[in-house]
Amino acid sequence: MKYVSVFILLILFSSLSPSYGQGDPQKGGEIFKAKCASCHTVGGGKLMGPDLQGITEKRDPQWLRQFIKAPSVLIAEKDPTAMALLEEYGAPMPDLGLTDEEVEHVIAFLEAAQAGGTGKGGIPALYIPTLLAALIAAGALTFIAISAGKKEVEVKA
Ligand code: HEC
Repeated sequence: MKYVSVFILLILFSSLSPSYGQGDPQKGGEIFKAKCASCHTVGGGKLMGPDLQGITEKRDPQWLRQFIKAPSVLIAEKDPTAMALLEEYGAPMPDLGLTDEEVEHVIAFLEAAQAGGTGKGGIPALYIPTLLAALIAAGALTFIAISAGKKEVEVKA
C-alpha cells in the first residue's frame, strides 16, 4: 500500500509540474489578438511597438511581467531597458490594465509562439517539463517495483 501512495504522489507531481508559469497559451493568444496585435506582431516585424518574437528569452521574466502589466511603472522608475525602448519607439506603450492572470496567459502565449507554436508538428516546448517529470516518475516507479519485487523474494527465501 505504501507504494500505491508513492505512485499517486508521483502522478500528482508530474501533472502539477509548472510549464512556464501558470499561463494558458490559448487564452494568451486571444488576449494578444484583442489587446496587443494592433501594435505588436510575433515574428511579423515591427508595428507601433517591437516584434515580440523571442521576447521571453531576451528579457528577464520579472521585467517582462512588469512591463506587460504596467510599462508606465518601469518608465517612472527610469528602468534603463524601458527608457531605451521609449527612446527608440518614440511613444510609450499604454498601461493595458491586464490582471496578473492575464499577463501569465500572454507570456505563455509568447513563450509558445517562440517555441514554434502549439499547433502542428513536434512537441511544444511548453509540455517538455511535464513530459520529463512523467518520464522521471515512470523511472522511479520501475525502480520501486523492482526493489519491491526483490524484497518479496528475500522474505520467501
Ligand atoms: C498602443 C500600442 C501598443 C499596445 C496596444 C501594446 N503595446 Fe507593447 N509596446 C508598444 C510600444 C510603442 C513599445 C516600445 C516601448 C515604448 O515605447 O514604451 C512596446 C513595448 C513592448 C514590450 C517590450 C519589448 C522589448 O523589446 O522589451 C513588450 C514585452 C510589450 N510591448 C508587450 C505588449 C503586450 C503583451 C501587449 C498586449 C497585452 C502590448 N504590448 C500592447 C506599444 C503597444
